[in-house]
Amino acid sequence: MKSTSDTRYNQRIHVDFSNMIAENIGARGIPESDFTQAMIDLQYAVSQTDSKRDEMKWRDLHSSQDAVLCDVKRIASRVRDRFDTFVVLGIGGSALGPIAVHQALNHLHYNDLPHDKRNGPRLFVEDNVDPQRMSDLLDVIDPRKTAFNVISKSGSTSETMAQLLIILDLLKKTVGEGWVSHIIATTDKNKGNLIKAAQQYGFDTLYVPDGVGGRFSELSPVGLLPAAVCGIDIDKLLAGAKYMDEICTDEFNDNPAYVLAVLSFLSQRMGSNISVMMPYADSLKYIADWYAQLWAESLGKRYDVNSNEVFCGQTPVKSLGVTDQHSQVQLYTGGPYDKVITFIGVETLKCVVDIPKELESIPDIAFLGGHTLNELLSSELYATRYAVTKSGHMNILISIPEVNAFTIGQLLMMFELQTAYMGEILNINAFDQPGVEEGKQATYALLGKNGYGSKLAELNAAKEANKTYSV
Ligand code: PA5
Repeated sequence: MKSTSDTRYNQRIHVDFSNMIAENIGARGIPESDFTQAMIDLQYAVSQTDSKRDEMKWRDLHSSQDAVLCDVKRIASRVRDRFDTFVVLGIGGSALGPIAVHQALNHLHYNDLPHDKRNGPRLFVEDNVDPQRMSDLLDVIDPRKTAFNVISKSGSTSETMAQLLIILDLLKKTVGEGWVSHIIATTDKNKGNLIKAAQQYGFDTLYVPDGVGGRFSELSPVGLLPAAVCGIDIDKLLAGAKYMDEICTDEFNDNPAYVLAVLSFLSQRMGSNISVMMPYADSLKYIADWYAQLWAESLGKRYDVNSNEVFCGQTPVKSLGVTDQHSQVQLYTGGPYDKVITFIGVETLKCVVDIPKELESIPDIAFLGGHTLNELLSSELYATRYAVTKSGHMNILISIPEVNAFTIGQLLMMFELQTAYMGEILNINAFDQPGVEEGKQATYALLGKNGYGSKLAELNAAKEANKTYSV
């Protein structure tokens, strides 16, 4: 499975954690003996996660969806044949995965390419309810040539349901008869309101399986349909996830997700409450966004599973190399020892861009000529890692041979497993989000949803009781 003779091995992603260890980076690092001991002491995180496989259906998505894949491909093919634009309506876990995978695997200016150079229809993922965003979207799409994929696992999220109401109204007015074929719903088979609307109107519908929460759903129809519509090889994406799953059921020292979880735990215990993810590739920029939600919403918990107050969780920070070298890296080298920086490097980028030999009369510019942007990018990654390490700040390098569907599938699975292991280590439920609920319920009350009268009274009472301080 992990043998170097496995043909998949040359596409395997690797984790270098040398710069986490005190023997390499000094007193602010993790002593090697602590790491070795923790790898033994925390092994239960792997066995418990393995034993909960039946509940954690997200982990099997790479192999459990044969019939679903047929439906996804059939719908994707219909959309590709018929529409020139595909709009995802969804938020949080119902949007961040589709955005991240599309940015990783398609052209960075995908929507601006002419139709014959694109892999499919234009894609917009609408994950906010800023009225300007909706209004501006409607300025650039033709509803008669647009398919809308409304994605909501719970089928009740106000933001997504409000978007659906707007689009329903628009389609009825602009398309008239046949408008129903412009909407595809992705939701829970039995629960929520979206399934009711889907059944009432007869939308094409895909299901988010039980045991697959929003932030763990990218490899379900949530992510697979938008990916397939835009020409991404979803079989390879799932094959990559399967490969990483196989790697991670192996011995602990060779399990990269477990090693990452142990390092996160130990560094957090030493006061590193911030986790920075810094990919050195624009294509991976939104993988950092997706990871931020996965890490924050899964692990930011007030109570452990025994109802003890623990207030745990590392704050994720998104960063982009080299752009944020000119924005955040001063803090990462000179600032407090409260963070771990995870660099992501790509060994072979999709293109090579030469830097021409010009301005030879100005040696301080001319030295760049004859190199490539690829060399500049990789040298800057090396140099920044060197500077961060020299300043004694812990950092990790995740190396990806190249950005393709197979390696992205691996990356997603590795981070999902890291998060699940971390939940076990911290003894918290990584799969709920009670802290998000209070805000959702207050919104329902403010907008007059049935059954939220006492919540509205509570909000009004809180407003009365609070003194106002403002300038
Ligand atoms: O990860 C999660 O569970 C959340 O971020 C949800 O994805 C988000 O709140 C949207 O929920 P839903 O898909 O039910 O509309």
